[in-house]
Amino acid sequence: MRPRKVCDGIQWVGAIDWERTLFDELIPLPDGTSYNAYLVTGSEKTALVDAVDPTKNDVLCSMLDTAGVKKLDYVVANHAEQDHSGSIPFMLERYPEAQLLCSTKAKGMLVDLLQIPEERIVPVADGDTVSLGDMTLQFIHAAWVHWPETMLTYVPERRALLSCDLFGSHLATPDLFVSDPAKVYRSAKRYFAEIMMPFRTNIVKHMEKLADYDIDIIAPSHGPLHDKPAFIMDAYREWVSGPPLNKVVIPYISMHGSTQVLVDRLVSSLSDKGVMAVPHYLSSGDTGRLAMELVDTGTVVLGTPTVLAGAHPLVAYAAILANALRPKVQFASIIGSYGWGGKAVDQLVSLVPNLKVEVLAPVLVKGYPREADLQAIDALAALIAEKHGASNLK
Ligand code: FEO
Repeated sequence: MRPRKVCDGIQWVGAIDWERTLFDELIPLPDGTSYNAYLVTGSEKTALVDAVDPTKNDVLCSMLDTAGVKKLDYVVANHAEQDHSGSIPFMLERYPEAQLLCSTKAKGMLVDLLQIPEERIVPVADGDTVSLGDMTLQFIHAAWVHWPETMLTYVPERRALLSCDLFGSHLATPDLFVSDPAKVYRSAKRYFAEIMMPFRTNIVKHMEKLADYDIDIIAPSHGPLHDKPAFIMDAYREWVSGPPLNKVVIPYISMHGSTQVLVDRLVSSLSDKGVMAVPHYLSSGDTGRLAMELVDTGTVVLGTPTVLAGAHPLVAYAAILANALRPKVQFASIIGSYGWGGKAVDQLVSLVPNLKVEVLAPVLVKGYPREADLQAIDALAALIAEKHGASNLK
């Protein structure tokens, strides 16, 4: 891959990671990812905005050599997380004249995480600008998308927003700009769910701020770039503040078939009532898909057998994950089975204090479900449909 022209004066000099399957040793990457770095070449000065994961340092060096870069005046660290900052120490060594520009909060983090010498770092405030001659870098602080130190870099002469993680997607693709909107929508939604969803209220404020900027190009630090910014900005508006859907996500496990019978009945009964039901079998291991389904669901119903007097550990993990991701879900319940007792319901409810939900009466069944148990599931489905209707979920 060679440097690619984003617009006059801005080149993509990043790295595509086709092989990466896991991020943070936690998040599945079914479509790989990319680390997008941008070379901004003004009439007088040159800046590298963000770098790449340290495993791709050689790719970045090769890109800069191919672009003919002999000197960098600035390296901009929009974000201190290592998938973008990890190769900055190499860049500072390679380009000894370069100053490292970042937010004040990022300065301490870059010193701590990467042991970058403090004297190389020049903090920039929200709204500060740096001239490259005929182009300008303007810094927009955007705390908590998704770390506290994050900022965005805007190039007003090109109406280009280099948005770091915000508006990104974990998608390895040869396309510089979005060419398959449906595919990018899914990847961006999954990325939003995994990374950004807990910070919805911060994102709302940042998007209000961005409304004051003229933006023709959004160039995030993962995945393809957006030359039709409304596509991703509209999607974000929907995800952060649109009402949840008339939808029930059912993360579940079944050990000997009892919980499976309950889930099957719930799916059938919800469908009969016009409610979208999304069962998610947790043994599949794709927590990213579960996170994505949580973005716009009105209700979550956890399905669990009883293991050692509590919920199945994978269901407990799903509850912990949902609690951490803070989706805009409004209702929750629990269904499942037990052999001789247990505290699965109390345990699961205690794991989701961040979810501001109304808990609907659980359906816990002793042994294999009988007809009365299935009718209880039907009643739960009817209650969910009624609650969704009263909340005007579409
Ligand atoms: Fe892509 Fe928060 O780093």
